Amino acid sequence: MSNRMWGGRFASGPAEIMEEINASIGFDKRLAPQDIRGSLAHVAMLGQAGILPAEDVAAIEAGLKSVRDEIEAGTFVFKRELEDIHMSVESRLTEIVGTAAGRLHTARSRNDQVATDMKLWVRDTLDSLDQQAADLQRALAEKALTHAETVMPGFTHLQSAQPVTFGHHCLAYVEMLARDRGRFRDARARLNECPLGAAALAGTSFPIDRHATASALGFDRPTANSLDSVADRDFALESLAAASICAVHLSRFAEELVVWTSAQFNFVRLSDGYTTGSSIMPQKRNPDAAELVRAKSGRIIGALTGLLVVMKGLPLAYSKDMQEDKEGTFDALQALSLCLAAMTGMVKDLEPNAAVLSQAAGSGYATATDLADWLVRELGLPFRQAHHVTGRLVGAASAKGVGLEELSLAEMQEAEPRITEAVYAVLGVENSVASRTSYGGTAPVNVRKQAQGWIERLG
Ligand code: ARG
Repeated sequence: MSNRMWGGRFASGPAEIMEEINASIGFDKRLAPQDIRGSLAHVAMLGQAGILPAEDVAAIEAGLKSVRDEIEAGTFVFKRELEDIHMSVESRLTEIVGTAAGRLHTARSRNDQVATDMKLWVRDTLDSLDQQAADLQRALAEKALTHAETVMPGFTHLQSAQPVTFGHHCLAYVEMLARDRGRFRDARARLNECPLGAAALAGTSFPIDRHATASALGFDRPTANSLDSVADRDFALESLAAASICAVHLSRFAEELVVWTSAQFNFVRLSDGYTTGSSIMPQKRNPDAAELVRAKSGRIIGALTGLLVVMKGLPLAYSKDMQEDKEGTFDALQALSLCLAAMTGMVKDLEPNAAVLSQAAGSGYATATDLADWLVRELGLPFRQAHHVTGRLVGAASAKGVGLEELSLAEMQEAEPRITEAVYAVLGVENSVASRTSYGGTAPVNVRKQAQGWIERLG
């Protein structure tokens, strides 16, 4: 049998494989709520513009609501021969209301319909990702406040660099998430133009009111060019790009958690709720959730790359290639949502091991910069010379296998005779972090203030 929706000029139905490659119902059925919303806005406008008689509008509206109920109740039967969600809804509508259903598609095409549905889905998803990112920010800011004074090693090149506070480290991720949220909102703002009414590609000769449908669906305005309306998938690309950057941030934190929970580091403890055991090694507590957050960045970045390649070189306007926008976009944005939720759970339960962190913060000559700064401040040495003197002292301490604070004053004075007892005060990690009061620095007083500010702003 040829297709009921477009089969007028076809004598026979599609080959089995044609049907399989062509059908999108397996994955676009998730657009059912958006599709029905779009159709309700469209048919109401057709009525208001006098394009459809009121009784047809009423019948179609009632029918669409029944279809929605059936889908929500799980009684709707999706059939592959109906290709996609748009034709599935319309076909069932026809069964319910009869021939009037055929009038719904006046002044519309699946091309503007699918672009509208996808925008509605992506918009809702961006809104919920923004909320989830805010939840993670809140969990991090609260951890930061609790641990504003907990010292830990700060790293560059993953080598001990200077002591920092655990709270400061948490707040670094709060900042990254703030930029992520800014990108979600930017993408949302640019997305918010309605393609409905662009029809197949050229617009329509019916006197439709595109401003009415745009505003009924919560868009700021209709899209201005009908070709662009149906050929554009920037909104999906931008959202995937924003999601990819966010996923990269989460993967960096996840990697830190994996390293920090190892027996060798033992910096933090994840709760039982976010670790798993090994079936053979009873001592193991594996950070699986963190590992999976680290890994899921792969599929999210993959979806962005995949869709960029699908879109590259596509001539205007719509091509069926664009049906390939869906699975990757759904999967990636859903994966990010799961990552944000898992990260929030891990952060809430996270227990830094303060004693280990403090010990590690002092090892590796992490206060060498404090010593050099003291030489500059107290003795007036140029920084380069202070750096050199400090280097000699680090060498001496390392040759003896001791920390800088364990060198005697006499040993210190071999490198610089004017050094006094007062130098020992800056060699402690607490003093080191407390002195970093420059704006954005790691001092506990800064961290407390920033964490409190975030908690207030996040509400
Ligand atoms: N399922 C299609 C998609 O997702 C809907 C648009 C089909 N348009 C067409 N001209 N065949 O892209």
